[in-house]
Amino acid sequence: MTYDYLPDRGDVPVSNSKIFTLTSTLGMKFYSRAVVLAMGAGGAGISKIFPWKPSSKEDGADACCHSMEIKSFPSLNVRNKIQRRQQTNVVVVGGGLSSAQIVDMAVRKGVTKVWFLMRSGLKKRLEMMKTARNGGSITPRYTRIVRQHAAKNRASIHTGTVITSHEYNPESQTWSLTTDPLIPDLPPIDYIYFATGARADVCEMPLLNNMNAQYPIETKEGLPCLTEDLMWREDVPLYMTGRMAGLRLGPGAPNLEGARVGAERISWSLEEVLEKNREVGEQCEGFCGLGNRYASLLGDSDE
Ligand SMILES: NC(=O)c1ccc[n+]([C@@H]2O[C@H](COP(=O)([O-])OP(=O)(O)OC[C@H]3O[C@@H](n4cnc5c(N)ncnc54)[C@H](OP(=O)(O)O)[C@@H]3O)[C@@H](O)[C@H]2O)c1
Repeated sequence: MTYDYLPDRGDVPVSNSKIFTLTSTLGMKFYSRAVVLAMGAGGAGISKIFPWKPSSKEDGADACCHSMEIKSFPSLNVRNKIQRRQQTNVVVVGGGLSSAQIVDMAVRKGVTKVWFLMRSGLKKRLEMMKTARNGGSITPRYTRIVRQHAAKNRASIHTGTVITSHEYNPESQTWSLTTDPLIPDLPPIDYIYFATGARADVCEMPLLNNMNAQYPIETKEGLPCLTEDLMWREDVPLYMTGRMAGLRLGPGAPNLEGARVGAERISWSLEEVLEKNREVGEQCEGFCGLGNRYASLLGDSDE
């Protein structure tokens, strides 16, 4: 992505305002007066958080995965055991909504017991709002669901608990885990899900290499200090929403409510920015994607 005056191509009039040029991986070029990045948790520049980085032996053995990497559920070894009517034990590490949803899914898929390990407490959204702190939180609905599974002995909830040692045995395809505080009856574990979230760093996103070089902005632990309108800079109409707008929208930025508030702020500002640059529209029509490609269908009458 670049943001600059367009070079004189001879056939097209040069605009007197800067234009974004976006080049796709297939080499296609898109031109625009404003850009909105609404990339959620995905995309390059996002690094998954793990309590420890699984070794290639552990990762490749279908022994554990991050919640953003789940391809089939449950894992093959667990599915086979369930089919053979053998006991299965799965650990979920987390404390956010993903972890609660995985606990629920595992129980529903027939895992004998799910061990839910949280380094902090079982936090509900309301408590998060009161303290406005970051970290995972679970909706009241999933808090209820997880507690119901625990009441039926299908899940075991361990708050303030961390894994202190781990060893994977490829022969038995099980983990031996030690926790602090100790869970005395923790059996060999068939699979571990790390629902431990992800960290986004705006300086690490290849898409933004040029923007970071030409229009540097302040960042805090990888999050950009956007304007109140969620714009990169007052002079650069590149908008960001979701997790990346966290410093402006607060802890709720990656959630649905954050998305709604973000969209509202961006749409108001876009109206202003596009109005200000109206004169560019006529000059770039045809290759900036500013005109309506269906306009010719209208003919002279509105019908
Ligand atoms: N709409 C939906 O259906 C849906 C579903 C899932 C997720 N989401 C949203 O997606 C976003 C991401 O959710 P998420 O649950 O994947 O992540 P998250 O909300 O960031 O939660 C990650 C959890 O992992 C814990 N954690 C982080 N590092 C750890 C470590 N090294 N060891 C042990 N625990 C660690 C954190 O503990 P602390 O709390 O102690 O920091 C936190 O509770 C959230 O905004 C969530 O609401 C939405």
